[in-house]
Amino acid sequence: MTILAMDQGTTSSRALVFSDDLQVRASAQQEFEQHFPRSGWVEHDPDDIWTTSAATARGAIEKAGNPRIDAIGITNQRETVLIWDRRTGQPIHRAIVWQDRRTADICQRLRDEGNEDAVRAVTGLLLDPYFSATKIAWMLDQVEGARARAEAGELAFGTVDSFLIWKLTGGQSHVTDATNAARTLLYDIRKGDWSEDMCRLFGVPRAMLPEVRDCAAEFGVTRADLFGREIPILGVAGDQQAATVGQACFDPGMMKSTYGTGCFALLNTGDQAVASENRLLTTIAYQLDGRPVYALEGSIFIAGAVVQWLRDGLKLIREASETQALSERADDSQQIIMVPAFTGLGAPHWNPQARGAIFGLTRNTGPAEFARAALESVGFQTRDLWQAMRADWTEAGDAVLRVDGGMTASEPAMQFLADILGAPVDRPVNTETTAQGAAWLAGFRAGLCPDPHEYAKAWRLDRRFEPQMDETLRQQRYSAWQRAVKAVVSV
Ligand code: G3P
Repeated sequence: MTILAMDQGTTSSRALVFSDDLQVRASAQQEFEQHFPRSGWVEHDPDDIWTTSAATARGAIEKAGNPRIDAIGITNQRETVLIWDRRTGQPIHRAIVWQDRRTADICQRLRDEGNEDAVRAVTGLLLDPYFSATKIAWMLDQVEGARARAEAGELAFGTVDSFLIWKLTGGQSHVTDATNAARTLLYDIRKGDWSEDMCRLFGVPRAMLPEVRDCAAEFGVTRADLFGREIPILGVAGDQQAATVGQACFDPGMMKSTYGTGCFALLNTGDQAVASENRLLTTIAYQLDGRPVYALEGSIFIAGAVVQWLRDGLKLIREASETQALSERADDSQQIIMVPAFTGLGAPHWNPQARGAIFGLTRNTGPAEFARAALESVGFQTRDLWQAMRADWTEAGDAVLRVDGGMTASEPAMQFLADILGAPVDRPVNTETTAQGAAWLAGFRAGLCPDPHEYAKAWRLDRRFEPQMDETLRQQRYSAWQRAVKAVVSV
């Protein structure tokens, strides 16, 4: 019995073949082009999204020795917007990516008109260009005739999961799951349905929205010609939610943080949709059997990307993996603070105008100190989220943070994270948490995988990082970070 997980991310498409005990049998990955037509704009070619997804799926199946695939699970970059013609399947525009800031003015206007509280109450989100709705409206207004066609039911909107399912099923299914719907600004996360009020506010015709299903559900079957036979698609979740599942954060109070280009932390709050007082997001962690499990989410836009900047921008390293050794040579007496607000600040500050800065430079500051400050900036930003989550939800208790993603390979970065949080940080053996979460959802629906409780028992610790920093120093360092952020925000 085998499951195929398709993970369509921001910079690459991946596919992994899992055995029914959720071990990886084979994988394939392809990067694709990023389009930056103007400053702050980020687009993907829908054809690239589809062809790299289909090619990696075929590639992974082939590498695994062409086993019979019993079910497919899909996980994806969230919020990114696609609109296509229902009859021809042709997209009307390139995909507008979650990172794209072109609708900042629309968000500002809606805020000025006093809409943010209503938006937060219904969707759990904030008025920020990060989410889908203003991007959909932009596309409908900019592409000639699109709005009228959308109102006439001729156009379909989808996040990447929905678009891939449409393509995989040959246009038979126009569906999404609750976690992806919850990122659009159009979904009522408490009622579990699209919100007429939000559709009206953002100017998005209800007729173009997909049907919303549980994360483990029947999403359709693939065209027979794609993989040699029809395969049911039985699991879907946005990538951060799939990682929450993959990390087995099934109990309220459990928290995971994924360190990729950015960092996304989710705290399971069970059946309570906790309204944040600290500008975190209230979102759906996963939904099984019609029951949503909610989460508080903090999104940081720059985590691993700060290491890319050391490599590509400053050229201090040739490979990302050199950062660790370089940072270990840093002079302990220097307290350099780097605020990597290259594209503004995400949670809990939500300041799209802020830009990066470095504090505490001396004549002795060099590459090693930059490397250490870059790694530490990820810890400081996570502490901002951790603190906001605790303030929002006192039941969070003495949570442990489960981490995954490329940066978790860095021992000093993880040790600093534990130090600055003052809490243990757990790194699992399995580093494929996102794909595994999607595979588990599909396998669970197919009756191939164990229930959440049994699945959680199989979670294995690689290493626990215990906090070692003295409390006074921890407070001193964190206060210095807070002063640095304040300075950045006020410039
Ligand atoms: O919300 C955006 C997030 O889903 C993107 O994740 O891993 O594709 O950068 P990633």
